Amino acid sequence: MAETDIFHRRRTIRRFEPRPVPKGVVEWLVDCARLAPSAANLQPLRFIATVEDKVIESALPFLRWAGYVRPRRDPVPGMYPKAMVVVCHDREVSDSHFVCYDVGSAVQTMLLAGVSKGLGGCWIGAIEEAGLRDLFRVAENWKIHCVVALGYPAEDPVVEEARGDIRYFLDESDRLHVPKRPLSEVLRWV
Ligand SMILES: Cc1cc2nc3c(=O)[nH]c(=O)nc-3n(C[C@H](O)[C@H](O)[C@H](O)COP(=O)(O)O)c2cc1C
Repeated sequence: MAETDIFHRRRTIRRFEPRPVPKGVVEWLVDCARLAPSAANLQPLRFIATVEDKVIESALPFLRWAGYVRPRRDPVPGMYPKAMVVVCHDREVSDSHFVCYDVGSAVQTMLLAGVSKGLGGCWIGAIEEAGLRDLFRVAENWKIHCVVALGYPAEDPVVEEARGDIRYFLDESDRLHVPKRPLSEVLRWV
């Protein structure tokens, strides 16, 4: 699987270079996410972004990283994310189950837009909502769904064909391997 397009190249990144991510780039990613498909075009999503190291470090205790290899992909100083986007929805705009699809569409858009700018990211759904709510001063009527951690990649995960076990793993050189089910297993033509 040596495809070169952003869709095949995108991998979850949990180790980042210390290089700052320009605020304007993060704003562009959120702008791309804003334009993503939305059920009934209700657009209930709200985004809270930061490139502040202090805020990012304060958020780390509320995020859980790479469950299958824990704690080997927990953040380490010098390789922390350099931007974060908290993805929420405003319950007053919509509170239907379709909101989750909006979140998926927005987050993947943001991640792919990031790849097109040389960024890597991690979609973090395992969050401690109360801690993030305080830190990011999230309004009561906004539900927090996830955090997207971003930065310039300092790891190079490899995708490979799953043979039964889909759990990602680290090899002896600390490289992340991500098994994906083969196309023949997930696609059926009629
Ligand atoms: C809804 C969702 C929630 C996720 N939550 C976490 C998380 O809490 N922590 C984490 O390290 N990765 C999380 N991930 C990233 C997955 O672990 C990752 O997408 C998966 O291992 C496949 O790797 P890939 O993104 O490189 O294809 C999440 C992904 C999705 C779609």
